[in-house]
Amino acid sequence: MLGFGSDNHSAIHPELMQAIQKCNVEHAPSYGTDEQTELANSAFKKLFGPQTKTYFVFNGTACNVLALKSMMKTHESVLCSTVSHLNMDECGAPEFFAGKLLTLPHTHGKISLETLKSALIRKGDQHYSQPRVVSLTQPTELGTCYSLAEIKAIVDWAHSENLFVHIDGARLANAVHYLKTTFKEMTTDLGVDIVSFGGTKNGLMMGEAILVLNPNLANDLKYIRKQAAQLPSKTRFIAAQFNTYLSTELYKKISAHSCDKAERLHSKLKDISGVELTAPRQSNAVFVKIPQPWIKILRENFFFYVWDETTFECRLMTTWDTTENQIDAFTDLVQSLALK
Ligand SMILES: Cc1ncc(COP(=O)(O)O)c(C=O)c1O
Repeated sequence: MLGFGSDNHSAIHPELMQAIQKCNVEHAPSYGTDEQTELANSAFKKLFGPQTKTYFVFNGTACNVLALKSMMKTHESVLCSTVSHLNMDECGAPEFFAGKLLTLPHTHGKISLETLKSALIRKGDQHYSQPRVVSLTQPTELGTCYSLAEIKAIVDWAHSENLFVHIDGARLANAVHYLKTTFKEMTTDLGVDIVSFGGTKNGLMMGEAILVLNPNLANDLKYIRKQAAQLPSKTRFIAAQFNTYLSTELYKKISAHSCDKAERLHSKLKDISGVELTAPRQSNAVFVKIPQPWIKILRENFFFYVWDETTFECRLMTTWDTTENQIDAFTDLVQSLALK
């Protein structure tokens, strides 16, 4: 059954499966000293700038947590939104490995510069965990995107306050698609220091990449990664996927497909009475309140998550393999429930 549960639920994109299969021959050196890793590193440099340093890890939580750990001491803290994956879905790993999270209110997942500024009120107070990193999710957990101007204003302010800026980019390519920009224009050119670059949500079997963009950041990530048990020995199979994903511009195809399908879903739901769209559609997620009695019937045919059990706000996610038929069948069923 195809559903709208998560882009994590989708199968591996056939071109990425093929990339794995293609390098599944002979022997190759381990721990990132192989040709595929070299090719993938070059692909990242091409898209993010020549100073980019890439560290592959197994999952997104490690990507975030180790990126943060490389920038801060344990008495320091991370400014992030209350709905950030860091705060809601990483089981305290950021605090365990890196330092305290200072969670801030948001609008549709985005933290404003004013809110960030207000979080520095106890700077210098020895009783208070000292902010060192701003972490933005792009696109956010609620499927919205910070504009380039918003990122730039946050980065400029953060740097003026001696803070680093991290982007959790589990689905970064979708933001590039929505903003009609490039990876480099959205990150390196704005001064972003470090990026968690997602693979798994975008069609890979698994694998994520920590991208260090700031050449002045202390370079001990390779030790931090190994100590945290996240150095893949057969790195070539992660790297081969990223190499194909980036160098053949598959990322553009996948993000365009997922976002277009989400737009179709959003615009069809908009016209159905009884449902309420709750966030702008700027990525591959649609947030919508659905009357409770309908949810059970819909979920018998299409899996999706109820995001908020108190309001029955649901999250519908599209992926590289979402089809128009699937969307039309879902919205037809919603429509039929609305007419009952
Ligand atoms: C915004 C965001 N960041 C990071 C992750 C990575 O999580 P995981 O550790 O499950 O790979 C996810 C996964 O859902 C996510 O949505």
